[in-house]
Amino acid sequence: MPVHIIVGAQWGDEGKGKVVDMLSEHADIVARYQGGANAGHTVCIGDKTYVLHLIPSGIFHQHITCVIGNGVVIDPVALMSEIDQLQKAGIDIKGRLLISHNAHLIMPYHKMLDTIREKSANSIGTTGRGIGPAYIDKFMRVGIRIVDLLDRDILAQKLKANIEEKNQILTKVYGETKMDVDAIIAEYQEFDKSIDEYITDTSLYLNSALKEGKRIIAEGAQGALLDVDHGTYPFVTSSNPTSGGACTGLGIPPTYVDSITGIVKAYSTRVGNGPFPTELLNDTGEKLRRIGHEFGATTGRPRRCGWFDAVALRYSATVNGIQQIVITKLDVLDEFDEMRICVGYEVGGKKLKSFPTDVKTLESVTPVYERFEGWKTPISGVREFADLPLATRRYLNAMAELTGTRIHIISVGPRRDQTLYAR
Ligand code: IMP
Repeated sequence: MPVHIIVGAQWGDEGKGKVVDMLSEHADIVARYQGGANAGHTVCIGDKTYVLHLIPSGIFHQHITCVIGNGVVIDPVALMSEIDQLQKAGIDIKGRLLISHNAHLIMPYHKMLDTIREKSANSIGTTGRGIGPAYIDKFMRVGIRIVDLLDRDILAQKLKANIEEKNQILTKVYGETKMDVDAIIAEYQEFDKSIDEYITDTSLYLNSALKEGKRIIAEGAQGALLDVDHGTYPFVTSSNPTSGGACTGLGIPPTYVDSITGIVKAYSTRVGNGPFPTELLNDTGEKLRRIGHEFGATTGRPRRCGWFDAVALRYSATVNGIQQIVITKLDVLDEFDEMRICVGYEVGGKKLKSFPTDVKTLESVTPVYERFEGWKTPISGVREFADLPLATRRYLNAMAELTGTRIHIISVGPRRDQTLYAR
């Protein structure tokens, strides 16, 4: 396993945190390749629950080195507070966290612009963490990178130029008040001491590690259907959570990738705006939300809930090159009399051949469902695939068959041990 990519195969919140934590046992390095503190990866160890936003979910294994790659956008305030929280919880970070010198920074003006734009008619329901505006600056080539934190003069120069331009936009376009250039410069110049020990050329580090035969897990954030290129644009995030993003976001060649796993929730959820064909705006959706605790780990927003969508997953499996899937939160369905799986989309009575990524079509599809009998018994204690109720196995087999994938692992609860391997 030189490089094993873990992708969210739906709209994010599939439970990647638990899976990456578990798989870390057999890896040397866990590297995050895109997104920022918009992500919330939850890991439950014993009776403790940790929510990580930036630091890879392998941090709970002492032998793992964690890398935040060049493709991630980093809010240094959020990062330092996460490091602080982990250290207070007794987790030793020293020498185990490496941050790419080329990763871009999220600044207060990015968060402000994100929030202001979200108040407009074109709101897409972002997390308000400044992700989009930070990536805009990266691609405008005016972004400020992690390495800039180490040179106080360069940082001041770049911040001044950026804030002066942003102040024009804030005052003239949005009628807001100006940001205080000197205060921001003074605040961010202070990060050099605290962040210095973590900064390195992580692409060089990862490539050397690969030559030494080390095993890397590339951890994606969000999900494939939120990918800026392959998702339900414009209701997407601003990076590439799909597997292709792992190579550019870490600076490692595709030739080292030998395994791609998609994390799949046993039903569907989505946060923010945008098309969601199998959404349940009724008591069943409410029941999924309640039992599945479907509230954003970053924003606390209630997640939209719906039936499992095999059409969307088949598309995701293709775009990502998924070889095997991990099914999460299967136990959430324990109390349902019946479940449905969307097996096709129709528009105007005609069956669509593939998943449409243009919003207009996706919003107008009628899902075609197949019904599945519920198992109506708790499965959180089951550890062998063969011991699962017949109805559960039927549901799982249908998920695999309808999406053209192979099930590798099934998660039946938040704890590490609430896991079983498919034979
Ligand atoms: P942004 O990434 O904050 O710009 O938000 C863009 C879209 O992605 C919005 O619909 C968000 O709700 C969604 N999004 C961002 N991060 C996550 C995540 O970790 N889980 C689920 N949805 C997310």
